[in-house]
Amino acid sequence: MRITVIGCGYLGAVHAACMAELGHEVLGIDVDQAKIEALSAGRAPFFEPGLPELLASASATGRLKFTTDFSQAAGYDAHFIAVGTPQKKGEYAADMTYVDAAATSLAQYLKPGDLVIGKSTVPVGTARRLAEIVKAAQPEAELAWNPEFLREGFAVEDTLRPDRLVYGVPDGEAGEKAKAVLDEIYAVALGNDTPLVVTGYETAELVKVSANAFLATKISFINAIAEVADVTGADVTKIADAIGYDARIGRRFLNAGLGFGGGCLPKDIRAFQARAGELGADQALTFLKEVDAINIRRRVRAVDLTRELLDGSLRGKKVAVLGLAFKPDSDDIRDSPALDVAAQLRAQGARVVAFDPEAVPNAQRQHPELDFASSAEEAAADADAVVVLTEWKQFRELDPVAFGESVGAKNILDGRNCLDPEKWRAAGWHYRALGRP
Ligand code: UDX
Repeated sequence: MRITVIGCGYLGAVHAACMAELGHEVLGIDVDQAKIEALSAGRAPFFEPGLPELLASASATGRLKFTTDFSQAAGYDAHFIAVGTPQKKGEYAADMTYVDAAATSLAQYLKPGDLVIGKSTVPVGTARRLAEIVKAAQPEAELAWNPEFLREGFAVEDTLRPDRLVYGVPDGEAGEKAKAVLDEIYAVALGNDTPLVVTGYETAELVKVSANAFLATKISFINAIAEVADVTGADVTKIADAIGYDARIGRRFLNAGLGFGGGCLPKDIRAFQARAGELGADQALTFLKEVDAINIRRRVRAVDLTRELLDGSLRGKKVAVLGLAFKPDSDDIRDSPALDVAAQLRAQGARVVAFDPEAVPNAQRQHPELDFASSAEEAAADADAVVVLTEWKQFRELDPVAFGESVGAKNILDGRNCLDPEKWRAAGWHYRALGRP
C-alpha cells in the first residue's frame, strides 16, 4: 500500500516507521521542519525504544520518506491522521485545531478510491464531521476511524503486534471498501489472529476514550485504596497483588504511587467529560472528576511525605529527584507527575537536583529553575532526601548500600512503590512510600 501518515509525533512517527517495516511505501507529513529533518536523516526526534532501529532499516529500503509538503500526499492512496488533540487552555475540551487542519489540508489532494483513516483520540462525533469534509472535496474517497492503543515505551511492539484492531467504517458498500483497504494495511497482524472489531464511527471513537477512562479509573481506584492504607498501616502493594489474582480484576494497572500522567490519560478523561456534557450525558461521567482528583492528590501527598522525611520543613534542604518523565522508557514530560512534584518541592523552598535517564533536556526547557545532574549518584550527593518519582529500571536496581555512601542523610521516598522496603531499611535508610507502612 502507498500510505501517508499526517503528524509525526509520538504516535505518527512510530506508526509511519512500523508501516514501512510491514512493507508499505510510507510518507510521513508534519508541519514541524526540525522534526522532518531529523526523521529524514534517520534520527528519532524523541526517545522511544526500537524506533531508531526501525528508522534505520526503513531508510535502507527507501520505503519511508518524510516531508512538510502536503501536496506530495497526492501520490498516495491511504492517509492516516495522527496529529495531537491536546487539552484546550483553561478548558476540559480537546483542541481540534490540528485534526481539522490536517483534514482540510489533505482534502484537496484526495483522488477517487482514497481512504482517510483517523487515528488521533477525538471527541465522539469527529469522524462523521470529517467524513463530510472528505466527501465534499472528493465524493469517491472514504473515511474510516481506526483508534490507536499504543503505549509510549512499547510503541513499536504495540503497533507491530497490537492487542486488537478496531475499524470504524461507514455502512454498506463504502464500509466494505474501507475495510478491504484496512485489511490490506494490517494483513500481517490479521494473519497473526489479532482480534478485529468492525463497527461504526461513533463506537470506534468511544472504544478509545472508554479504554483510557477505564485505565485511568483503575489507577485511581488503587490510589484511593492507598490513601486508606496510609491511615490504617496496611500495604497497598499487597492488596493489589491479592485482588489482582482474581482474573476478573487482573494485576495490571494496579500499581499505586504518584498516579497517571502523560499526553493521553489526563487530557482524555477531561475531554471525555466535556464531550459527554455537550451531548447531555454529563452525569454518566461525573466519576471521572473524582478519578482526576484522586490522581492529583497523589502529587500533594508525595510532597507532604518528603516534608515529613525532612522533619517538617523543605526550606533550604537538598532533595535529589530521581525521574522526571511521566513513566519509564520515555522522555515525555507532558503532564508528568514526577516533574510536577519536583517543581512543587522547589516552589516550597527545597533545593531540587534532578536526574532522569532521558527526560532532562525536556524538563530543563519547562522548568529551568530546577538543577539537573547527569547521574543518580550526582543528584544524590549530600542530599537530605532522595525521592524516586519515575520507576526507571536503573533506579529499581540501585544498591541501597553503595548509593547511601554519598548522601547527606539516608531519607528516601519511593513515589512509585518500586523499591524493596526491607532492603533499603536494612541498609539504614528511612524509607517512606505512598500506601505502604
Ligand atoms: C496510555 C494507554 O495505556 C494507551 O493504550 C493509549 O494509547 C495512550 O495512553 P501511555 O500514556 O503511553 O498510554 O502510558 P501508560 O503506560 O498507560 O501509563 C500512563 C500513566 O499511568 C503513567 O504515568 C504511568 O506511570 C501511570 N500508571 C500506569 C500508574 O500510575 N499505575 C499503573 O499501574 C499503570
